[in-house]
Amino acid sequence: MSTNSANNNIKSKNIFAVDHRVDLEERWDGNGHKGGILWFTGLSGSGKTTLALELERQLIKHRYQAFVLDGDNIRGGLNRDLDFSPEGRSENIRRIAEVAALFSDAGQIAIAAFISPYEEDRQIARTLRPDLFHEVFINSDLAVCEQRDPKGLYKKARAGEIPEFTGISAPYEEPANPELVIDTAEDSVLESVYRLMDYVGSEFTLQGQVKEVA
Ligand SMILES: Nc1ncnc2c1ncn2[C@@H]1O[C@H](COP(=O)(O)OP(=O)(O)O)[C@@H](O)[C@H]1O
Ligand SMILES: [Mg+2]
Repeated sequence: MSTNSANNNIKSKNIFAVDHRVDLEERWDGNGHKGGILWFTGLSGSGKTTLALELERQLIKHRYQAFVLDGDNIRGGLNRDLDFSPEGRSENIRRIAEVAALFSDAGQIAIAAFISPYEEDRQIARTLRPDLFHEVFINSDLAVCEQRDPKGLYKKARAGEIPEFTGISAPYEEPANPELVIDTAEDSVLESVYRLMDYVGSEFTLQGQVKEVA
C-alpha cells in the first residue's frame, strides 16, 4: 500500500514511494473495526463541529480509534498560509483530504468537519480513498444556521465585514449523492449523534464481528 496519493503533479523527480509491511486489514484486526473517512460537509453553523466532537467522544468511549480534523484547528496550523479565496479553499480541502487519507491508512476513523463547499473538491477527496470515503451531508437551512450563528459570523458577513462567506457571498454546492444526510434543523444533537453511531456500527464493523455502539 503506497501512501503517495497524487502521482501526478509531483514537483520532484526523485520520489520513490515505499510500501508498508503491515496490511490495512491487520491494522483493522488490531483495532477491532474498519477505518475510513467520515467527511462532514455543510454550511457554517450546520452542526459539523458539534456532531464531530460528540461522535468522536462516543466512539472513543466504545473503544473505536477515531480522530476529528476540524476546520478552524487545521487553518490555525497546517493551513495557516491559506485564505478563503476559491483557490485557498480548494488547497485547504486538498491538504485535509490527504491528511484524512493518511489517518485512514493508519486504520483510524478520520472525522473531517469542513464546510468544503465545492463538489469538485469533495470528489477529489473521495478519489484518494474511494472505498473508505463516506460523505455525510450535515444539512440545515441557511435561515436556521444564520439564526444559530454560534460564532457571530453571519452577522459580520451580513454587515460586509467578511468577504466570501459561504451561503451569503460565496457558494455552497450541496452534495449530489452523500452516503448519509443528517438534518440538524429537524433532529436534536442527541438524535443526530445516534444516527451517526448507527451508521458507524453498520459500516465500520469487521465481517463476522458485532461491535456495540450505543
Ligand atoms: N442536531 C444538531 N446537530 C448539531 N448542532 C446542532 C443541532 N441542533 C442544534 N445545533 C446547534 O447548532 C450549532 C452548530 O454549530 P457548529 O457545530 O459550530 O457548526 P459548524 O461546525 O457546522 O459551523 C451549535 O450551537 C449547536 O448546539
Ligand atoms: Mg465548525
